[in-house]
Amino acid sequence: MTLWSHRLIVVAGKGGVGRTSTSVCLALAAAARGMRTAVVELQHMSGVADLWGLPSRSYQPQQLVPGVDTMSLSPMECLDDFGRRRLKVNALVRLVFHNRIMSAFLDAVPGLHDLLQLGKLRNLLQEPEPYDPSYDLLILDAPATGHGLTLLSSARSMGEMTRVGPFFEEAKRIEDMLGDPEHTALVLVTLPEELPVNESLELVDRLGPDKPLLQAVVVNQVLRDPLPPGVPWLRMREVLASHPHPSMGPLLALADETAARHRAQARALRLLRSGLPEALGAEVPVVGLPYVPGGPRVERCGALAEQLAEDLDSQQPAVVEGAA
Ligand SMILES: Nc1ncnc2c1ncn2[C@@H]1O[C@H](COP(=O)(O)OP(=O)(O)O)[C@@H](O)[C@H]1O
Ligand SMILES: [Mg+2]
Repeated sequence: MTLWSHRLIVVAGKGGVGRTSTSVCLALAAAARGMRTAVVELQHMSGVADLWGLPSRSYQPQQLVPGVDTMSLSPMECLDDFGRRRLKVNALVRLVFHNRIMSAFLDAVPGLHDLLQLGKLRNLLQEPEPYDPSYDLLILDAPATGHGLTLLSSARSMGEMTRVGPFFEEAKRIEDMLGDPEHTALVLVTLPEELPVNESLELVDRLGPDKPLLQAVVVNQVLRDPLPPGVPWLRMREVLASHPHPSMGPLLALADETAARHRAQARALRLLRSGLPEALGAEVPVVGLPYVPGGPRVERCGALAEQLAEDLDSQQPAVVEGAA
């Protein structure tokens, strides 16, 4: 089984590590493998629109490239959608859902926001209406709250709270979908630094029954070694240090700083590689996305995506070795 055989990939990680960039790259890679894919954001987020230069977020699918759409969900829009699917009459939907009591109820029940948005994903994947676009794979750009993992357990907690009724049944179906490692995969995004790596390892440890979902860890913003392999840097440094040019001091300081960052990165990657099997009780691919000055813009995403997919497919921890 590969990452691409899943119907839903949840891309999780703490804020700013590169969940959106990774989600888009995974979607482009999936499309290159012939799958119709959509990157889905929750809670009105507009990360994909921003990255891709779209004018705004939209609940309705927007196309990034042929085969890849993006959707940005919000609880209220999903509630409307849910109503439409169940009640089939727009006037009734407005009557039932568009009132203050309903929005107060929405806000008052913990987990209901998550459940409504996950329900939309489930509808698209498992019970599409004739008017729905058809997707082989959805990539959920998870919110940063709890590193995106509160979401995985929200249906479970909801199911524990409400034992009867339509919401309970829906919560159960969502729980089954999210908990099924054949259907849903988790991809964790982290940075090649000690603190984020330690946080990710703790997170993996806390995954509990969801551990089998973890299919890959993406290390984002990996610095490439500026020196070609085989350059004897320490000896070169001695030669350069004896050079009388006044700029040599600052230049060497710059080189030392770069070298120190590389050593720290290599340490963090070793920590990740040794800590993951311990926390997980199994091996998962660890792949990297290179640091791209100015961020991964639209024109660069295709190449990044292809490299990411190749590394994933070969199951080689390519970056970890390259940077060590
Ligand atoms: N590989 C990278 N190289 C350089 N900058 C990056 C890289 N990936 C992401 N960034 C930058 O980091 C910021 C956060 O990235 P993003 O993918 O939006 O993360 P998240 O969705 O986790 O908040 C953005 O400004 C983005 O341009
Ligand atoms: Mg984002």
